[in-house]
Amino acid sequence: MSSQITAPQVRSMKGDSRIVCLTAYDYTSGRIADRAGVDVILVGDSVGNVVLGYESTIPVTLEEMEHHVRATSRAVERALLVADLPLGSYGSSVSQAVDSAVRLVKAGANAAKLEGDYCDEVRAIQKTGIPVMGHVGFTPQSVHNFGGYKVQGRKNKSEVIRMAKSLDDAGVFAMVLELIPAELSTEITKSVSAPTIGIGAGIDCDGEIQVFHDIMGLAEKTYKHTRVFAHSGKAMIRGARQYAQAVRERSFPTEENSF
Ligand code: KIV
Repeated sequence: MSSQITAPQVRSMKGDSRIVCLTAYDYTSGRIADRAGVDVILVGDSVGNVVLGYESTIPVTLEEMEHHVRATSRAVERALLVADLPLGSYGSSVSQAVDSAVRLVKAGANAAKLEGDYCDEVRAIQKTGIPVMGHVGFTPQSVHNFGGYKVQGRKNKSEVIRMAKSLDDAGVFAMVLELIPAELSTEITKSVSAPTIGIGAGIDCDGEIQVFHDIMGLAEKTYKHTRVFAHSGKAMIRGARQYAQAVRERSFPTEENSF
């Protein structure tokens, strides 16, 4: 078994090698991402829209996150496993944030991620020994505040920069920059000590994160910020059709599959 990547190692990759991050939500996707050699696997609260069929990440509960972290952690041997704190699990108080992060780590995560300007919470979680990843720009849990899925930092550039710098000062080991202009993420990447991990944030971030189902061709929609690297959804539908046909025409199971 190769040794597992740590949060300090991810931090030290800034300026050295690009950090490859991918979401995963269960044993199978975790195993695929880990065997492919990605550096960081995120059990994202995007599990809500991607796997559970919710409209957004907003309904996702801490219990649901724990369930998916447990499943994913059983497969992950090499990558750093980060888990998202869902909406309602860290916004009320510092102690709520610490308790929620502890639950995700007890479920198998190596680090926690939270969205937005929660620097006291970041410091307190880190004080308990749990590394924290930040997330600025478009933060999906605030979709109602943003008025939809919109690129951030065009009109409020200084606000996004200020937030990234505060999280950096609070000691995050990395931060996601989501849906912001490429020029802005270049500026942030140069002005913070933590590595930046982009999604819809241009090429100059220290690393990239994508949603498993988007790059594997399993999503219903396609987005400008992503690319399909494997057309798995089409292959699966084809496979299921061939299976159905074989069952109906009695060409499966054969003697080979029988006991
Ligand atoms: O939940 C998620 O998948 C995320 C990534 C898009 C960064 O937060």
